[in-house]
Amino acid sequence: MYRDAVVCLAPFERDDLPAVLAWVNDRELCRALNRVLPVTLLEHERWYERLILREDAVTFAIRRLASGAGPPAAPSSVGPPRPTRQVGNLPHTGSVGPPRPTEQARAPAVHAAPAVDGTPTVHAVRAPAASGDLIGLCGLSNIEARHRRAELWLYIGPPEARGQGLGSGAVRLLVAFGFEQLNLRRIHLYLAAYNEPARRVYEACGFREEGRDREHLYLDGQYHDALRMGLLRREHEAPGEHEQLQAHRAASASAR
Ligand SMILES: CC(C)(COP(=O)(O)OP(=O)(O)OC[C@H]1O[C@@H](n2cnc3c(N)ncnc32)[C@H](O)[C@@H]1OP(=O)(O)O)[C@@H](O)C(=O)NCCC(=O)NCCS
Repeated sequence: MYRDAVVCLAPFERDDLPAVLAWVNDRELCRALNRVLPVTLLEHERWYERLILREDAVTFAIRRLASGAGPPAAPSSVGPPRPTRQVGNLPHTGSVGPPRPTEQARAPAVHAAPAVDGTPTVHAVRAPAASGDLIGLCGLSNIEARHRRAELWLYIGPPEARGQGLGSGAVRLLVAFGFEQLNLRRIHLYLAAYNEPARRVYEACGFREEGRDREHLYLDGQYHDALRMGLLRREHEAPGEHEQLQAHRAASASAR
């Protein structure tokens, strides 16, 4: 299990579905994720069943650990990993936010690829004994084995759980999982430009803005820009190197 002092990334179990269904039908969360369609129970269950079988995606429940749950632990696996499953190779959907039922339905079927040396594999995580309150979902989707990249998504469901650093904690754990366990080289994501809390979280976790797709999204009668952000493994492993280089270049330029 990946955890820090306050949150852990745990298996997303069927028991979690009712809470998640309420979140994905919440108006505020839908706006943050740029969604408009309500989700029915049937859609929700079908989405879950497809999601957990996807070979190109890993999904975690974000759980808030009870205070006093132990000292902060470096992201680590608990127990021996189960046999790995091979990560498939699907085209990028270009969606903003997590996959939703209808997007899943459109995704092509995934075939189990034969093991190939050097391609990412997913280590299943054991169900934690005491997992804490469910506060959100996150995942890596569109995992591309050949390119060693994946798309990150997350949300914190209960409004009162936001703004407490839990989202940042979950992103850090998920990024560590992607680079250390899946052997990814690049993690990228899309977000609506109006989603300032999300942008701040991703920047605080090392993501850089890589582009702006102008008027890419339509919501509430208006078009909105979408931001593309990305993080490379070497930047994750040597944070600050880019900033030092930039500062050095700026100093050299001003000395000229
Ligand atoms: C975005 C989200 C995951 C962040 O998780 P979180 O636990 O609330 O985030 P944190 O507490 O770790 O950090 C929040 C940051 O946003 C800032 N913030 C919070 N509310 C804000 C607001 N209304 N406007 C601007 N910044 C805001 C906080 O100050 C903090 O930034 P700082 O560390 O620079 O001070 C969470 O708010 C969420 O799930 N939102 C709805 C779904 C969503 O937007 N998902 C991401 C889609 S790309």
